[in-house]
Amino acid sequence: MALIKETDYGTPAAKAEKAVTLTIDGTKITVPEGTSIMRAAMEIGTQIPKLCATDSIEAFGSCRLCLVEIEGRNGTPASCTTPVAEGIVVHTQNQRLKQIRRGVMELYISDHPLDCLTCAANGDCELQDMAGAVGLRDVRYGYQGANHVFAKHNGKANSEWLPKDESNPYFTYDPSKCIVCNRCVRACEEVQGTFALTISGRGFDSRVSPGMSESFLDSECVSCGACVQACPTATLTEKAVIEIGQPEHSVVTTCAYCGVGCSFKAEMRGEEVVRMVPYKDGKANRGHSCVKGRFAWGYATHTERILEPMLRDKITDPWRETTWEEAIGRVATEFKRIQYQYGKDAVGGITSSRCTNEETFLVQKLIRAGFGVNNVDTCARVCHSPTGYGLKTAFGTSAGTQDFDSIEHTDVVMIIGANPTDGHPVFASRMKKRLRQGAKLIVLDPRRIDMVRSPHIQADHHLPLTPGTNVAVLTAWRTSSPPRASSTRRSCASVATGRTSRSGPRSCRDRSTRPRSPPSIPASIQPRCAAPLASMQPAATPPSTTA
Ligand code: SF4
Ligand code: SF4
Ligand code: SF4
Ligand code: FES
Repeated sequence: MALIKETDYGTPAAKAEKAVTLTIDGTKITVPEGTSIMRAAMEIGTQIPKLCATDSIEAFGSCRLCLVEIEGRNGTPASCTTPVAEGIVVHTQNQRLKQIRRGVMELYISDHPLDCLTCAANGDCELQDMAGAVGLRDVRYGYQGANHVFAKHNGKANSEWLPKDESNPYFTYDPSKCIVCNRCVRACEEVQGTFALTISGRGFDSRVSPGMSESFLDSECVSCGACVQACPTATLTEKAVIEIGQPEHSVVTTCAYCGVGCSFKAEMRGEEVVRMVPYKDGKANRGHSCVKGRFAWGYATHTERILEPMLRDKITDPWRETTWEEAIGRVATEFKRIQYQYGKDAVGGITSSRCTNEETFLVQKLIRAGFGVNNVDTCARVCHSPTGYGLKTAFGTSAGTQDFDSIEHTDVVMIIGANPTDGHPVFASRMKKRLRQGAKLIVLDPRRIDMVRSPHIQADHHLPLTPGTNVAVLTAWRTSSPPRASSTRRSCASVATGRTSRSGPRSCRDRSTRPRSPPSIPASIQPRCAAPLASMQPAATPPSTTA
């Protein structure tokens, strides 16, 4: 088994339907309009050197390493921020470009510690890779000038040097290795939506700063790890990698902490997990994670974990370790005895909502085929049977009707009785991203959850109803709507649940242009649910504009 390496295309994929054809280093390629030259080149296997670009965040154009030449255009534009255009001819490799790139790398390396052999990121460092890619062999400027690398400069304390910030329990921040590429800041903003980081200072004084020059632990940081993943150097590094070393192989797995079901690469040395890296191909998380899946995996090797079967005859007896043969034999005998003594129906099986679908399937198979009864259930039914019933009635299926990607083209999100930032953090980040793009948000919840107001997010309506009055509010809301044809009712429901049909947002626009009566939620509903009528009525009005 080897480490799974995912391709970094440099910039996010463009979604335009219109295609553009261009030539890169003599090869013709057709890509969606809006694609960067860097990404188009990567599609045909040409990796243009880069430092400040990565495909999880928008291009920024700060490192100037990815310069290219375009026939008929002046200068050397950055390929990460230059979109493709019909018929252009691009050159990514020639003597002039090589010299420019080598010069840029030389400047970076002249203010970087030369400790690759003992660096935790050795072998997994983009700065190291790029120095190799541009053929940098010497640094003409020496290391004696002003720098961020050494604690002392010319025998005196170096005011540009900052000590490591080890305050975060899961990763370290070593400013002496920072190349100020801004990837961490953008990841925190664009991917996670926490806005915990900024670049403070200007020019040579520029540095990454959590909050108002606080430590990571004291800042707004929620330890999602997006910045660590985005960092091309060892500046932000997982503590486990520092302690254990670079992983050597990986397997793709699913986080079991919550229902989002994020995919991760479990990166390991031998049998030991070194780190969990969110998997870009994961359909739920698309390469993002929350603190639980990313860092809270210590249970895998916790000393208190029970690894051997245990038995006791009475509940008052202490547990004793035993063999699997004895444990399984004892359980089988006891099930048989109970069925013999009390009848077949006296046994049954229930699975936890933490089980995988496969485990739940196997348990029902065992109960049905092995014990000959249908007494089988899953604990998820306890909390989700009303939801399942409602969904089945409304949409014909008791499961979710959309995938997580649909949030990317949702116009109106309504959250009822959920707290996504706590309960389903990765989906909350995706939701917040869409809200920052202009989608509307209605929150029905007695609590002032984070989605009501957090950095760069503010709900359009928060209805702080009294616990237990969801049905009253929704019924009032429903009855306030004018009668419509059944197809229109369907698209209305889609909006209320964040669900978009194929025509999706357009159906909402169509509906919003129809003449309709103003909402008329009865005033009598207000004392019952404690949500102010003045808030409910505008929230019940479908948006007249869309994002
Ligand atoms: S760990 Fe997440 S929340 Fe914390 S600074 Fe990095 S990206 Fe932002
Ligand atoms: S900490 Fe890493 S990602 Fe952030 S600016 Fe420095 S080198 Fe770039
Ligand atoms: S959101 Fe967090 S806890 Fe839930 S599956 Fe993803 S990483 Fe795991
Ligand atoms: S990768 Fe294009 S400017 Fe940095």
